Amino acid sequence: MFKVAVLGASGYVGAELTQLLAAHPQIASLQLFHSGSETGSGEKQGVVPFHTFAPKARALVAQTVAPFSVDALAADLDAVFLCTPHELSAELAPALLQKAKVVIDLSAGFRFADAAVYPRTYKFAHPNPQLLAQAVYGLPELDAAGLDNAQVIGCAGCYVTASTLALAPLVQAGLLRSDVAPVISAVSGVSGAGRKAALNSSFCEVSLAPYGVHNHRHQPEIEKNLGVPVVFTPHLGNFKRGILASIYTFTKQGVTAADIEGAFNKAYGGQPLVRLLGAGVYPAVQQVEQTPFCDIGWSFDAARSQVSIFSALDNLLKGAASQSVQCFNLRFGLPMTMGLLPTVLPASGVVA
Ligand SMILES: NC(=O)c1ccc[n+]([C@@H]2O[C@H](COP(=O)([O-])OP(=O)(O)OC[C@H]3O[C@@H](n4cnc5c(N)ncnc54)[C@H](OP(=O)(O)O)[C@@H]3O)[C@@H](O)[C@H]2O)c1
Repeated sequence: MFKVAVLGASGYVGAELTQLLAAHPQIASLQLFHSGSETGSGEKQGVVPFHTFAPKARALVAQTVAPFSVDALAADLDAVFLCTPHELSAELAPALLQKAKVVIDLSAGFRFADAAVYPRTYKFAHPNPQLLAQAVYGLPELDAAGLDNAQVIGCAGCYVTASTLALAPLVQAGLLRSDVAPVISAVSGVSGAGRKAALNSSFCEVSLAPYGVHNHRHQPEIEKNLGVPVVFTPHLGNFKRGILASIYTFTKQGVTAADIEGAFNKAYGGQPLVRLLGAGVYPAVQQVEQTPFCDIGWSFDAARSQVSIFSALDNLLKGAASQSVQCFNLRFGLPMTMGLLPTVLPASGVVA
């Protein structure tokens, strides 16, 4: 049995993660923290019940949430999960490693081995660049190597997970034209911006519109994962949670529909949390909401060598909290889907 802590349990991602960990069959002890700041999520000067932040968890999660300090963490933790701002995660990790076997960061604080990415993309100099080289990237379906031994895990971003899982099989199989950058047009629900109040995510302001055009922080992460340039345009949609990514690109001459299906099956035939819908069947946000799945469907126009791929996931789960539980499970030798599915599902492949 394991002892874990969550920093940022009062935020959207941390609250989802807390509910998963509270129900996880191998977790015996769960410490929860908020910032303790008066300008944080509110009504929490001190120790408060978890349901203060997640009312639907009343009577389901018994733990309280306390103001964070390193001293308040138990001494012999197995894992600390960071659902905190990037810069804070990057700063806190060394102190947390004195208390826990592994730090599992859901921010971007440890997603890049190259420290130069941080000032360029995240506008801060990484305070602990020595930890970047040893951090293991947390997107198990792309590469689970090293997770079983990691001290620091930098979980993949939400748009990044949807985009990478959709494109990686075709890139890895060498099916795509190298002179054409895939175009990724993705829409996220408002929870992607976090819980803090802001004008552009307030009820009357949210519509359906692009943002971060040509400079969104997830573009470098997607390109790192795939090893190819992409054109990535995120959109904010007027729904609470979920991401739908629509991706357009061209294959090399001679590529067939069977090659495409074969590449997806090869990549995800053994992966229970990626549901391949197949050609001509398209995912929808509603079908992945509140689930740990990424759904992928596609269409191939052989005459024009054009392939369109569609992926959907819940940004708070497969895009964050449930992905971090996958990483935790793999780190400690547990079945990857423990605590995420009612039973461990068999390998999927294209579901007829
Ligand atoms: N939202 C998504 O879809 C998503 C997806 C993937 C990754 N992420 C990443 O996950 C992290 C959390 O995102 P979120 O959407 O959950 O944000 P959020 O709702 O704004 O929550 C942020 C959390 O961090 C805590 N926090 C802030 N400053 C702190 C401090 N100095 N000490 C301790 N705790 C502190 C906050 O506590 P208070 O409530 O007390 O302020 C809150 O619990 C971010 O790094 C984000 O980029 C988010």
